[in-house]
Amino acid sequence: MAILKVAVLGNPILRVPAEPVKNIQAPEIQRLIDDMIETMREYRGVGLAAPQVHRSLQIAVVEAEENPGAAGGSSRPLTVLINPRILPVTERMEEDWEGCLSVPDLRGRVSRYGEIEVQAQDRRGRPLNLRAGDFFARVIQHEHDHLIGTLFLDRMKSFDTLTYPAEYARYWARPEDEG
Ligand code: NI
Repeated sequence: MAILKVAVLGNPILRVPAEPVKNIQAPEIQRLIDDMIETMREYRGVGLAAPQVHRSLQIAVVEAEENPGAAGGSSRPLTVLINPRILPVTERMEEDWEGCLSVPDLRGRVSRYGEIEVQAQDRRGRPLNLRAGDFFARVIQHEHDHLIGTLFLDRMKSFDTLTYPAEYARYWARPEDEG
């Protein structure tokens, strides 16, 4: 296992649509998935896509709560998505804050579908179909965007909320965001 270097804004690999993965069981693909998981955890990300670690392949790892801060908490299932497709199951859009390991120190408000269906393969190549809502759905849409060369900045309706961390804490953080 290894912690991989993260490509940041301006690196052309972040803007190239990623290739489908054909030989999911190949040792180099399995090693890449393990390294992506380790890299995501090292940098305390809730998701990571292969183009962010300089590999233009349709692989994303997600480890995000469905409803952060909800009463009783919720688990953080590790989900590996290979060759994912996203189908919105609602027209309801929700706007909330996002950041990105490839866009360091900036966050902004982005609209996403509130509930989605995901059709993908798991790390063994088996079909993986799941429904996701709320924050989990947001993270999956963010990571899927990385696989088509799109960044959260592209999804912002306006840059009025584009914010550095200190200003976020000073002007934007709501009490329920804390802790
Ligand atoms: Ni990102």
